[in-house]
Amino acid sequence: MSPKLLSPKHIHIIYAHPSRDSFTYQIRESFCAGLQAAGHTWSVSDLYAMDFLAELTPDEYAREAAYATDRPLAADVITEHEKLSQADVWVFIYPVWWTDCPAKMKGWFDRVWTVGFAYQPQTVTPAQEALFICAAGHTVEQLRKSGCYQAMETVMLVDRICDRAAQKRFVCLGGSEATSGAQWQVLKSQHLDVAYQLGASL
Ligand SMILES: Cc1cc2nc3c(=O)[nH]c(=O)nc-3n(C[C@H](O)[C@H](O)[C@H](O)COP(=O)(O)O)c2cc1C
Repeated sequence: MSPKLLSPKHIHIIYAHPSRDSFTYQIRESFCAGLQAAGHTWSVSDLYAMDFLAELTPDEYAREAAYATDRPLAADVITEHEKLSQADVWVFIYPVWWTDCPAKMKGWFDRVWTVGFAYQPQTVTPAQEALFICAAGHTVEQLRKSGCYQAMETVMLVDRICDRAAQKRFVCLGGSEATSGAQWQVLKSQHLDVAYQLGASL
């Protein structure tokens, strides 16, 4: 039987890691190889490479606090809005740092999820899907036992995405600091295969 053909989509990736010598970067590469194999197109907001401003400025704070949708938005925020609007699927790729995404990505939400776009009123065109792929030192089993997995999943899917995407998924590729060298190499290769399949099956 011939493989099921998927219709090509445009994916926008929001990526945060300071180093290309990282497991998170390998996840990004495998995921994009999957996208390529499926015939999808993609763009990337590589937040460290862009030196993306992660802190809300005083003007931006004033705009949010007053729900002042008539006040102007920063050019880099408008650019992010446009990239999201042009994509069918939004994908967030990052390492888990202190049970959250890196500050650069948290700041991306602070600045890009603006009043009049993300809420009050919510004018963003909802994505077909929002997918979170994160790397973690603990195993998923450990993170579930501590409740950290559920906390991260809830914050990302329930709060930050909410109904801004028709479907939403949180995938954690864990265990880099909980398994020994040889075990980690096996697990890592399985994780990179999962990342590839996530891209190929969108
Ligand atoms: C600052 C910092 C904080 C971290 N916090 C957590 C954490 O809260 N939970 C966890 O499971 N792993 C944590 N880790 C481990 C990373 O998530 C883990 O190494 C992951 O596989 C990313 O690896 P990479 O940096 O090679 O991409 C942390 C790592 C760093 C550098």
